[in-house]
Order: sequence, then structure tokens, then C-alpha cells
Amino acid sequence: MVTLELQPAHADIARANIARAGLADRVTVRVGPAAESLVHLADEGAAPFDLVFIDADKAGYVTYLEGALRLSRPGTLIIADNVVRRGRVIDPDSEDVNVQGVRRFNEALAAEPRLSATIVQTVGVKGYDGLALAVVTR
Ligand SMILES: C[S@@+](CC[C@H](N)C(=O)[O-])C[C@H]1O[C@@H](n2cnc3c(N)ncnc32)[C@H](O)[C@@H]1O
Repeated sequence: MVTLELQPAHADIARANIARAGLADRVTVRVGPAAESLVHLADEGAAPFDLVFIDADKAGYVTYLEGALRLSRPGTLIIADNVVRRGRVIDPDSEDVNVQGVRRFNEALAAEPRLSATIVQTVGVKGYDGLALAVVTR
């Protein structure tokens, strides 16, 4: 398992929690912008991943999707969090960069012929939002 994190302080917390869970031998935390880390992973010939979970800055979601596809194979599951944003995702005139980012992401999902995707609404204490679930088909 590889996890990508921008902030060194967040990475330290993640490493501590991973170690506490006894998983340090199976999880690598890479620090830096995820867009760059994804390129490095591909350049290093990282094996295709079974599952990719996208949950960082929403403006970068399309870039992360492209990076995830480069690290995928047929059957890889790509999941992205926060793609409904309390319904604000349907507003094409939104000036919220997060809404704009997930709108671009959802459109990229729909247009990508290698993916079969859906979005599932989630409801919790933080209101309602949604998860995109996409399977790489070819
Ligand atoms: C919502 S949290 C992720 C929570 C995590 N998925 C979990 O379930 O515990 C988002 C994280 O993305 C990191 N982040 C934001 N922009 C990033 C970027 N460009 N590259 C890598 N990580 C980024 C933030 O520092 C933050 O720690």
C-alpha cells in the first residue's frame, strides 16, 4: 500500500498511526504533491494497483484520475471522495474551486472509455456528499 501526502506533519501522524496498527511493513507514505508522486510511481514501474482512493485537494482530482489510470489494470477500482458537495456539484456557475474541481472530475469519469463509473450519495454528521466508484474495464 502506498499513500501520498503533501504535508510532512500529516505524513508523520499517518506513519505513527500505521505503525500503531502494526502495518508499517506494508504501507509506504510518500511526501510531496500527489501529482508529482504519481508520476514518480509510474516512472519507477510500480505494479498496477488493485484500488486507488482519491481524497486530496479537489482542484487536482482530474490530474489524480489520470495518474491513477496510468497505475491501473483492468479490474482496478478507483474511488474518489467528496464528489457531491451537498449538491452544489450541479451548479455550473459555482465559483467554488472545489465544486469546479469535482465537476471536471465527474465529467472526466463520464467521458473516459476505460472506466465504468457511478456516484453513490453518502449521508453523515457532516451533511451529504458522495463517493465516485469507477472500475477500469480495459
Ligand atoms: C481529507 S484528508 C485525507 C484523509 C484520508 N483519506 C483518510 O481517510 O484518513 C486530505 C489530505 O490530503 C492532503 N493533500 C492536500 N493536497 C494534497 C496534494 N496536492 N498532494 C498530496 N496530498 C495532499 C492534505 O494534507 C490532507 O492530509
